[in-house]
Amino acid sequence: MNKVRFWSVGILLLVLSMVLFGCGDSDTASSEDGDSADGKTKLVVGTDATYAPMEYMDEDGNIVGIDIDIVEAIAEAADFEVEFKNIGWEPLFPAVDNEEVDFAVSSITITDERKESFDFTDPYYVANQVILVPEDTDITEYADLEDKRVSVQINTTGHIVVKELLGNTSADIVAAETMPFAIEEMLNENADAAVGDNSVVNEYIKNNPNVELKVIEDDSFEKEFYGLMVKQGNTEVMDLLNEGIQAIKDSGKLKEITGFDVE
Ligand code: ARG
Repeated sequence: MNKVRFWSVGILLLVLSMVLFGCGDSDTASSEDGDSADGKTKLVVGTDATYAPMEYMDEDGNIVGIDIDIVEAIAEAADFEVEFKNIGWEPLFPAVDNEEVDFAVSSITITDERKESFDFTDPYYVANQVILVPEDTDITEYADLEDKRVSVQINTTGHIVVKELLGNTSADIVAAETMPFAIEEMLNENADAAVGDNSVVNEYIKNNPNVELKVIEDDSFEKEFYGLMVKQGNTEVMDLLNEGIQAIKDSGKLKEITGFDVE
């Protein structure tokens, strides 16, 4: 076999094997062919897994939590598959927008401002802000935070309610990358209080009974509803998710996971 024939046969074999073994056909969030081996649609789900008990990493490095159980139940009900990716909180928003993920689950409160840039499913969970303080604090309510230093997770609804009281550019707001870091800022006395979602703050207290902290509820905090966040206009994913949410509401599965009704 001369050199030219040798190479052309080689290239032919290579091309043939790529065709046969489907090289280059991977499951990506943006591609139409995000199907698993059994033909089911597979969706990539982004999250910020620093938010126990909602989404966090277990000791084996798996992404677990109430939100994860809910999405898995939705996927089962609407007959699709999911793969979770730990993206982080702030990068999660661009990740949905640039289709690095098909949707996001992250205890994300449905707000009018976010609805300008993203689409949200029907609500699946209800929450509210609470104030976490040292036991010996003189803070008794939201209004008392006005002349205090307050830590929050950056760009969360907790951050927003604190900005409303202290001002958008207040130097007394300590905006941390994650909720655990926000709580740490308070424990290190870099903040007098931390504000965040009730489920996560209550879980922190439960897991750290030796730390002398207490939770303050305040009526001025409105009910917040969590939704799954989808790229604007992606009706295909939206319909699938809402179908699943409706099914697990109807079957009682959602209540079984969360312990309460959403509406
Ligand atoms: N519910 C709040 C919000 O939407 C906080 C969510 C933070 N979630 C997280 N996994 N860090 O702004």
